[in-house]
Amino acid sequence: MPALPTLDLGLPGWCLRAWAATDAPSLAAHADNPRVWRNMADTFPQPYTLEIAQHWVARGHIDFGGDNWAIACEGTAVGGCGVHRGAGGERCNVEIGYWLGEPYWGHGVVSQVVRVLTARAFALPGVTRVFAPVHADNPASMRVLQKNGFRREGLLRRSAIKGGQVIDRVLWARIDDDAAPDGDTRPAAKRVEDRT
Ligand SMILES: CC(C)(COP(=O)(O)OP(=O)(O)OC[C@H]1O[C@@H](n2cnc3c(N)ncnc32)[C@H](O)[C@@H]1OP(=O)(O)O)[C@@H](O)C(=O)NCCC(=O)NCCS
Repeated sequence: MPALPTLDLGLPGWCLRAWAATDAPSLAAHADNPRVWRNMADTFPQPYTLEIAQHWVARGHIDFGGDNWAIACEGTAVGGCGVHRGAGGERCNVEIGYWLGEPYWGHGVVSQVVRVLTARAFALPGVTRVFAPVHADNPASMRVLQKNGFRREGLLRRSAIKGGQVIDRVLWARIDDDAAPDGDTRPAAKRVEDRT
């Protein structure tokens, strides 16, 4: 699998880069925070131990699927983000996700992350829609998306489990009205065959 490129965030000292084995201690330090965990999907570990972080940087970010970057500040991984392209008839969709260590909140970092990931997603042939489902009580994340041209598409009532509770989420998406289909006319079964 080709290494992920490093992506400039347009903020001095900040970039997106591939996860490295040496990131495990800083990943555990920033991810092991209930205020990060509470707004992430239920699969995000809590507590986020060093062992879990070691697994993520070694294999977890690959097994998770899609492209997953570390958000790095002056070389140190202090957050994470990723993109997942849909499959089959939903391959025109790209989902984005992100989190940042609490000491860095409120400085416009993830607004830049979303800007860069969205531009990259729309540069792929056939991508018409970039989306993110957000917990209904996460206004900061919704603001980040709104600032990047995403629109609120609707309330996904009782659509996820978080910490043993059923929660509502809000679906945000940005659409490229001019993007053409990717022109892939192979039968669905052939596309699956070609991916394996
Ligand atoms: C949500 C999160 C990603 C935001 O990252 P960030 O780098 O702090 O975001 P930014 O600084 O780029 O922008 C945050 C915006 O939300 C606004 N905001 C913050 N708290 C808010 C609140 N309680 N209500 C409304 N707006 C709020 C900020 O004012 C800012 O908007 P502005 O630029 O118009 O002033 C970060 O807080 C985080 O990682 N949280 C935990 C994990 C998470 O929620 N991940 C997203 C899952 S969908």
